[in-house]
Amino acid sequence: MKELKRIWMDGKFVKWQDANIHVLTHGLHYGYAIFEGIRCFSTPKGPAVFRLREHLERFQNSAKIYRMDLGFSLKELEEACLELVRQNGVKESYIRPIAFSAYGEMGLNPLGSRISVAIASWEWGAYLGEAGEKGVRATVSSWVRVDSRALPVQAKCSSNYANSALAKMEAIAAGYDEAILLNSHGVVAEGPGENIFRVKDRVLSTPPASSGILRGVTRDSIIQFARDMGMTFYRNDSTKEELYTSDELFFSGTAVGVAKIREVDGRKIGNGEWPITDRLKKLYEDAVHGRAKPYEKWLTYVKA
Ligand SMILES: Cc1ncc(COP(=O)(O)O)c(C=O)c1O
Repeated sequence: MKELKRIWMDGKFVKWQDANIHVLTHGLHYGYAIFEGIRCFSTPKGPAVFRLREHLERFQNSAKIYRMDLGFSLKELEEACLELVRQNGVKESYIRPIAFSAYGEMGLNPLGSRISVAIASWEWGAYLGEAGEKGVRATVSSWVRVDSRALPVQAKCSSNYANSALAKMEAIAAGYDEAILLNSHGVVAEGPGENIFRVKDRVLSTPPASSGILRGVTRDSIIQFARDMGMTFYRNDSTKEELYTSDELFFSGTAVGVAKIREVDGRKIGNGEWPITDRLKKLYEDAVHGRAKPYEKWLTYVKA
């Protein structure tokens, strides 16, 4: 990872190499940490952050679910993200706010622990790289997506990503690019770090929030694009075999953008044409790069 200049820690900007924590940090041991993933894109009017407010609202909601007091307002966090991008001086970056129980007492009860909040940013290309462009080869994981009766999946908590990592490693070890996780009822949930969309007979669908997914900000953007384009769209459950027989499938997420899935478990998806995915992907790219007027409302310009 290429170092940038600064990281924001508990209200102060520190040098990248000075953003360190103790090995006995409580959140590191017990997974009591929540985070966000946000992107800043280059636009004709300079760098702009896509749906900053919605990401930070989700950050606040994650904190609320986990009874964490962040100690910073939405406005303060927004300003910290923007100032970080200014100080790091790159046009496109990934922004990572994180809050965790800090060094202090050990033991399982995090109530009373000091909560530390940090925001880092770095340059990060499309998460699935070439596969994301050419079409992802995915496999249905043997790992079940964490059940929200055990861990609240709508909170973006670090603990959920141990489940994601198991699925991801399994997929890579078996020669695939990415995993698709089913939930404990055996229906499709999401990727390890992405939501999933399906097209069948020109109908677009995605699993509902109740299927145990993170409600993606990108997912919400795609739903709004589909509505604005007059597409038929449903939030509904689908099974593994419905994945195999889809006309089009794609992942959505801040890290991955919109990435076509061309194969699931050795079954080729559709007939090699992606009319609906291509339209949605183009609109997403236009929106994040400030080329789609109706969605400029989703951009926060960083300004010098
Ligand atoms: C498990 C999971 N699902 C879905 C997403 C997509 O969410 P978003 O579009 O807000 O990045 C992410 C990424 O944050 C994720 O980690």
